[in-house]
Amino acid sequence: MSTPERIVLASANPKKADELRAILSASGLDVELLGRPDDVAEVVEDAPDFVGNARLKAVALAGATGEWALADDSGLEVDALGGEPGVRSARFAGASADDAANVDRLLAELGRVGAVDPAERSARFRCTIVLRSPDGVELVAEGAVEGRVLDGPRGAGGFGYDPVFVPDEGDGRTFAEMTAAEKHAISHRGRALTALVARLTA
Ligand code: IMP
Repeated sequence: MSTPERIVLASANPKKADELRAILSASGLDVELLGRPDDVAEVVEDAPDFVGNARLKAVALAGATGEWALADDSGLEVDALGGEPGVRSARFAGASADDAANVDRLLAELGRVGAVDPAERSARFRCTIVLRSPDGVELVAEGAVEGRVLDGPRGAGGFGYDPVFVPDEGDGRTFAEMTAAEKHAISHRGRALTALVARLTA
């Protein structure tokens, strides 16, 4: 497969796009990363799973720009909530909810189902990445990180549910208490991108 010289990033979430850029830059992949052009409309993410939503975004962006396009879809699956919020993570507390509102809703839902003990608050972040060429060549990569949801936020870094997520592989800090590099080394997004880069450079 030909290796892309330029890749357009699909993310409309600036913090997520920053993470993708940082991880890809650190990976040593020799590629120019372009932001999503303002005149490309946002895609309605109505697929039932992460890969479906990532593909919707990658196909639309590759078609609109004529460039290779990289889209990720990600979210938090909480076992006590039957896998929710999952693909609805960005809009768990409503269509225009911000991160704080989504975290509040998550904590409220866990309280509602009586998941108080840390052992009952297991969860994982998942990330699926689709890299798509203008002529339809596609690579898909996935990553996940297991952990648990705290009963209140800790830390000021990261975004989304980071302040209430403690990865099992860490030292008890939330993702929001880690440096960006520490988070990327074990995060769902870091793992998915590492797998993608390995395949691109194989
Ligand atoms: P997406 O933009 O549809 O992929 O939605 C992703 C949503 O999942 C974000 O808005 C966050 O709420 C959540 N999420 C995904 N990755 C992370 C992460 O690394 N940390 C915290 N929250 C995340």
